[in-house]
Amino acid sequence: MRMDDSVVAITGGASGLGAGVARRAMSQGARGVAILDVNDDLGHALVKELGSAATYVHCDVRNSDDVSAAIAHVESTFGALHLAVACAGIGWVERTIAKDGTPANLDGYRRVIEINLIGSYDFARHAASLMSKNEPGDSGERGAIVMTASLAAYDGQTGQVAYSASKEGLWA
Ligand SMILES: NC(=O)c1ccc[n+]([C@@H]2O[C@H](COP(=O)([O-])OP(=O)(O)OC[C@H]3O[C@@H](n4cnc5c(N)ncnc54)[C@H](O)[C@@H]3O)[C@@H](O)[C@H]2O)c1
Repeated sequence: MRMDDSVVAITGGASGLGAGVARRAMSQGARGVAILDVNDDLGHALVKELGSAATYVHCDVRNSDDVSAAIAHVESTFGALHLAVACAGIGWVERTIAKDGTPANLDGYRRVIEINLIGSYDFARHAASLMSKNEPGDSGERGAIVMTASLAAYDGQTGQVAYSASKEGLWA
C-alpha cells in the first residue's frame, strides 16, 4: 500500500519495531501517525522527534475502552485510518513446571495472551471498523492491518509456551 497521505496507527509504537514503523511511515509521506502505547515517556519523545503529524495516545491494549478511545482519537484527529500495525507485545519465559514440580503461575500466561493476542485482535476490530468508512481504492481495499507474530509461533523455545501460543493465535 502507498504511504503518502495515509494515516497510520501503531500499538506498541513507542519503541522497537513499532517506532521503526512510525519513522518509516513519516519518511514515506504519511499524513498522520498515531502512537498507541503504555510507555508515555517514550511515546511523547517519539512524537517530539516526528513532529506535528504524529500523536501519542496512552493505550493499554488489555483495556478495550483504551483501544476504542484511541481509535476514536485517530478519527477525530486525522479523519480516517488506512494502516493499523499491532506491535504491542511482551515476552515471557516460564517452564510449565519448575524443577521441583511446582506448576507455573497462570497469571504470566494470561498476561501474555491478553496483550499479544486479545489486545491485537481488539485493536484490529476497532481499526477495521474505522477503515470500513474509507472509499475503496483501485484494488478494492479500504485499508490494511498488520499483526506482528514471531518465528516462535511455530518453533517456540523452552518456556515460551505462552508467547508461542499468542503468536500462533495471531498467525491463525
Ligand atoms: N524484536 C524482535 O526480534 C521480535 C521478533 C519477533 C516478534 N517480535 C514482536 O514484535 C513486537 C514488537 O517487539 P519489539 O522488539 O519492538 O519490542 P519492544 O519492547 O521494543 O516494543 C513493544 C512495545 O509494546 C508496548 N507495550 C507493552 N505492553 C503494552 C500494552 N499492554 N499496551 C500497549 N502497549 C504495550 C511497550 O511499551 C513497547 O513500547 C512484539 O509483539 C514482539 O513480540 C519482535
